Amino acid sequence: MTAASISDSRTPIAPPAAARLTGIKKTYFKPDGSVLVEALRSLDLVIPRGEYIAIMGASGSGKSTLMNILGCLDRPTAGRYELDGEAVESLGDDALSRVRGQKIGFVFQAFNLISELTITENVEIPLLYQGIPAAERKQRAIESLTVVGLQDRLHHRPRELSGGQQQRAAIARALVGKPAILMADEPTGNLDSATGQSILETFEHLHARGLTLIMVTHDDRIAQRCERVVRLKDGVVEHDRAGGGRKPHASAAGERA
Ligand SMILES: Nc1ncnc2c1ncn2[C@@H]1O[C@H](COP(=O)(O)OP(=O)(O)O)[C@@H](O)[C@H]1O
Ligand SMILES: [Mg+2]
Repeated sequence: MTAASISDSRTPIAPPAAARLTGIKKTYFKPDGSVLVEALRSLDLVIPRGEYIAIMGASGSGKSTLMNILGCLDRPTAGRYELDGEAVESLGDDALSRVRGQKIGFVFQAFNLISELTITENVEIPLLYQGIPAAERKQRAIESLTVVGLQDRLHHRPRELSGGQQQRAAIARALVGKPAILMADEPTGNLDSATGQSILETFEHLHARGLTLIMVTHDDRIAQRCERVVRLKDGVVEHDRAGGGRKPHASAAGERA
């Protein structure tokens, strides 16, 4: 993005945060209606656009519950969630899954690629659900695979790729719908450390292009490469600190990778 295009009059002066959680509670109930677990207890968190944030915390601290709410896979019991400026906490199932498809890209520890399809076909899948015509699907899948450095592997099937290449294909699939947020749950958990490094470099490249990234990790060294580290404890934010990850140049922020 050029300096001229960011001063374009169509650019909002104060864009909404990528995610704004206010007083979020998630309570799991027993069948008799009594409280089983308060997984999130009035959690507040603002994630500005373009931020690269690590979510940490001991097992049971609420990380998956938080990611499920942020990713529109589940709704809070109470509180407000604005995703990219839109209140989503009380949407019905259909509306919530539509928002999820438009605004969220997911990357998992297991790459979850379809083995019978080429990686280009795998990356096209989210666009199929959006009803995008075949020629545009293919072009956007190739663009997305190029962003993650797989432009010379377009016709390979997942088993013909290394673990790191498969995870990069999964990242391309998560990006192809131009999400507001890319969410990754232990994305290097199944990879050796050198390959994990290359995935982190891909995330850093996407961060520099202005994408908002939220990653769950148990590894302090990985978290320290993010821009911000939030640690949960018993369903609330215990620490919220700057990480070592570099803020990209301001003119790149706001562009979606
Ligand atoms: N579907 C569920 N039903 C009941 N309790 C749950 C459910 N999911 C998570 N919990 C509980 O909520 C708390 C937070 O869980 P979770 O968000 O999975 O933590 P983390 O991902 O940090 O390990 C834990 O005490 C867990 O047992
Ligand atoms: Mg979990």
